[in-house]
Amino acid sequence: MVLDGTARRFRRGVNFGNALDSAREAPAGLLLGERHLDVARDAGFDLIRLPVRWSAWADPSAPHLIEPGFFDRVDLVINGALDRELTVVVNVHHYDELQRVPDEHEDRFVALWRQISARYAGYPTTLWFELLNEPRDAMTARRWNRLLSRTLAVVRERNRDRTVVIGPVQMNGFAALPDLELPADDHVAATVHYYEPMTFTHQGAAWTPGADRWRGTTWGSDADRDAVRSDLARAAAWAHQRGVELFVGEFGTYDQADLASRVAWTRYVRWQAEQLGLSWCYWDFGTDFGVYDPGSGSWREPLRQALLDPG
Ligand code: BGC
Repeated sequence: MVLDGTARRFRRGVNFGNALDSAREAPAGLLLGERHLDVARDAGFDLIRLPVRWSAWADPSAPHLIEPGFFDRVDLVINGALDRELTVVVNVHHYDELQRVPDEHEDRFVALWRQISARYAGYPTTLWFELLNEPRDAMTARRWNRLLSRTLAVVRERNRDRTVVIGPVQMNGFAALPDLELPADDHVAATVHYYEPMTFTHQGAAWTPGADRWRGTTWGSDADRDAVRSDLARAAAWAHQRGVELFVGEFGTYDQADLASRVAWTRYVRWQAEQLGLSWCYWDFGTDFGVYDPGSGSWREPLRQALLDPG
């Protein structure tokens, strides 16, 4: 796969998380507006990942139509980002019922992609599709391999050349890459999420069991660096052997960790990814892992520098 002809092989991205992926009944963490696309582009990001909770806005009954008003909201962000020459990765995020009871939701998942695929069929190739965020629970590797292949076939009916990003089970963990079976397809890329060690990146995170006990964990020893280097090299080697691009679609640290360690980790992961020629996408833009503070309208400068400063 060729990344749309830029001289640099990798892209630098940021996740607009906790916006269109928020629960329908809960206020979004980030009220995403066009100004946010401007600040991301002006800072030097050339890609955004747009997590979307389509499952909350689609009919439970077949043919599972997505509400037109919600599609319009997603269009606004995708169009706004493409107008600004940002590559956009749109995914299916937080489809928790699919992960828990796949038998009851696989057809609906495919129906979502049939509609998304039709809606964006004529769009530039700088719009990428990512099939499913972090398959896990009852979505075992065997099941996921079958479902991804079925879904890709549906997407390909209308989008022959579009990059389609697919990650392994175990929440897109790099260790599960060997279980991922990618169909032969010139426009498929693999993705992993990188949050190692969780005891550092997720300390204090309410949604992670045991994370309260991890508070105070710092990062930055030689052994810490070696672990990151070898993890990412292993993931990149897997992709290289198969001739696919690898996209680090999420990496980041929760705001409960100390800032110096967060900055050191962020800089190191980014740097290792770039050494390996991997596109990356920081989690996230403007909420609890955020590189930007939407309240004050300013970057969290040390994190921004860790991501975007030269070298
Ligand atoms: C989830 C977020 C979470 C982040 C880090 C994402 O995939 O959607 O809710 O904050 O991972 O754990």
